[in-house]
Amino acid sequence: MKRRGDKIVMITAYDAPSGRLADAAGVDLILVGDSSGMVMHGRESTVPVSLEEILFMTQWVTRARSGRSSWPTCRSARTRLERAGDRERGAAGERGRSRRGEARAERHVGRTGEAIVDAGIPVMGHIGLTPQTATVLGASRHRDARRPREGADSGRARAAGCGCFAIVLEAVPEAVARAATKALAVPTIGIGAGAATDGQVLVWHDMLGYSEGHAPRFVKRYAEIGDAIVDALGRYADDVRSGAFPEAQHTYAMPEEELKTFERR
Ligand code: KIV
Repeated sequence: MKRRGDKIVMITAYDAPSGRLADAAGVDLILVGDSSGMVMHGRESTVPVSLEEILFMTQWVTRARSGRSSWPTCRSARTRLERAGDRERGAAGERGRSRRGEARAERHVGRTGEAIVDAGIPVMGHIGLTPQTATVLGASRHRDARRPREGADSGRARAAGCGCFAIVLEAVPEAVARAATKALAVPTIGIGAGAATDGQVLVWHDMLGYSEGHAPRFVKRYAEIGDAIVDALGRYADDVRSGAFPEAQHTYAMPEEELKTFERR
């Protein structure tokens, strides 16, 4: 698609109905993301989301996607990721913000990506705003014009050349996203990264108006599902309280003879 210049459409999904609906709408890629921790489970950040949770959700999302490929099975993914993690354990970057710490953390991310690819699992990289590494790598470094190489050619972007099948660019300036998209053979998928990337991703709840609080400026709302749900629940509550629900059509009847026998008892 990148070679053809066809834009790639990606959306997050976290359960079977959202996977099925995304599939029905013909999106190209579904991301079972750790954004689930915030939009589904009300956490303050994505950081505490475990691999276990992601694998749990992935099995339901992929089950709903008929006839499309999904890699790999959850069980084998876990085993292979654990093996890759064992190889990398102890190599984590030092804590605290320093140039040395940043460089080590980036090397670690690159090596971990390679280890996972070597284990036979396709990897989608992620640069820009990555809350898991914000303490060490900083959240806004890609806006710093004094460090352009690190924006367009960071360790993680280089890891894309070492085996990532695509890379997400989150909350980076459009100029940096354009440079990365040009530099990389693999597709870039942007979120808050402007129009120059090979594709776009949005979070399910944000774009459907189904999340709490203020949405980031890069979110475009395509529906107000949250309002529709509150409205429907309000009407349901009114009907229950007034006796308007349930009606005959929502109620099971008994055959006449059975009813007579029942009433004779
Ligand atoms: O977890 C997620 O949903 C993501 C997207 C915001 C790209 O990482």
